[in-house]
Amino acid sequence: PALFGTGRRNARGWDLSDQRDLDGIEAARAPYRGTCFQAAPLIAGKVTGVAPYKALNPADPADLVGEVTFSADADVETALAAARPWGAEVAQRAQVLNRAADLYEENFGQIFAVLGREAGKSQLDAVGELREAVDFLRYYALQAQGLTAPARGVFACISPWNFPLAIFTGQIAGALAAGNGVLAKPAEQTPLIAHLATRLLHQAGVPRDVLQLLPGDGATVGAALTSDARVNGVAFTGSTDTALVIRRAMADHMAPGTPLIAETGGLNAMIVDSTALPEQAVRDVLASSFQSAGQRCSALRCLYVQEDIAEEFCAMLFGAMDELRLGNPWALATDVGPVIDLDARDQIAAYVEAARAEGRVLHELTAPDAGVFVPPVVLSVSGIRALKREVFGPVLHLATFKAQDLDRVIADVNATGYGLTFGLHTRIDSRVQHVVERITVGNTYVNRNQIGAIVGSQPFGGEGLSGTGPKAGGPHYLTRFTRHMAPRAPE
Ligand code: SER
Repeated sequence: PALFGTGRRNARGWDLSDQRDLDGIEAARAPYRGTCFQAAPLIAGKVTGVAPYKALNPADPADLVGEVTFSADADVETALAAARPWGAEVAQRAQVLNRAADLYEENFGQIFAVLGREAGKSQLDAVGELREAVDFLRYYALQAQGLTAPARGVFACISPWNFPLAIFTGQIAGALAAGNGVLAKPAEQTPLIAHLATRLLHQAGVPRDVLQLLPGDGATVGAALTSDARVNGVAFTGSTDTALVIRRAMADHMAPGTPLIAETGGLNAMIVDSTALPEQAVRDVLASSFQSAGQRCSALRCLYVQEDIAEEFCAMLFGAMDELRLGNPWALATDVGPVIDLDARDQIAAYVEAARAEGRVLHELTAPDAGVFVPPVVLSVSGIRALKREVFGPVLHLATFKAQDLDRVIADVNATGYGLTFGLHTRIDSRVQHVVERITVGNTYVNRNQIGAIVGSQPFGGEGLSGTGPKAGGPHYLTRFTRHMAPRAPE
């Protein structure tokens, strides 16, 4: 059998430079432009729910995207009581997950519409996200066939709003592929896409008591799931602070060996030295820091440019930045959409204002009037040590360095305690070797952008404050969803 990568193929996706693909996307999304989508608990039992609320498009407050019913405490209890591992043979599980991947692809128009209208995803991001979700389903379906250990039981999968389809699906697919049951708690900002994805997974053949959806917020649903001994493991992607809260709750309420698989924040740097190809480095800096409005844990936060080329490089960078198009992601030409919500915008804006008061704004774009936009901005900074926390938006910090200080820069990057992504632009092979051997991050990218890890080719995950591993989309991910001991003999 084709195991561990052989015979593996990533989804084709959609080519946005091909007019036929563009026409196909336009035609498939159009019917969903004004649809009011629904989200509610999907549990094996009667739903109680709490008062529904209306979800609005972050790029256009006049666009009603959906009606959302969060889970009541009673729904969480019903789901916990009904939850069970997936008893099916691995071949059947793989078949169902592969079928789900097909269904995701077939429903691309509806998925793109929800990703754009609920989460503010640009079309480029929406394509990447659907591809990644499909890849996770097929990759874990294939990997599961090499597993020898049994499932752990039932996993709580708690996912973020910035990849509301890909990470939501990746966690669930990992748990299910290994034979577990799942209680999925999507981010409170993005329940509509989670609801659509769960319905497709059920349609593909995942039993309704094996995968249950509990939309709601972290303080209620998340807290209930991470402090209940009927849960046998937690997969979480989100902030480092929340991961620590979850770990404490698990320590208080669950068996000591209960796994927490956490992917958390980053304070990611890139070094551009004087031998870099400037056009390419500029393009990769823009993608790394401003694509997805900077709302990726992998995004570039602190750029180090070698002093000798800094002036020229910045002129080129700021010129290219001026070409970025901000706006409603429904327009195919939009490069940068809104941030996720008003709270996010206000927090990022306050941060930028504080930097402005210190005279550190080097270059800034202008935001559209309506919607929750943060214009991409570059701030000067002495170095990464001056950054106290991750600012989750289109805010790039820029520092310069002298060639002889390279090792100090590496030491400073390592000293943040985070260790997610790192970028290096240089044409000196020995420097690549030198830096890669010393930098302590999960994913290092050389002479390219540092976002958008590809399932199966670039397993993704960090070190230190950035996560527990195993890396998502890599050969070891499923092992944490299994028990390492032999199954107990029946009593
Ligand atoms: N996997 C994403 C990336 O590589 C981040 O979550 O950008």
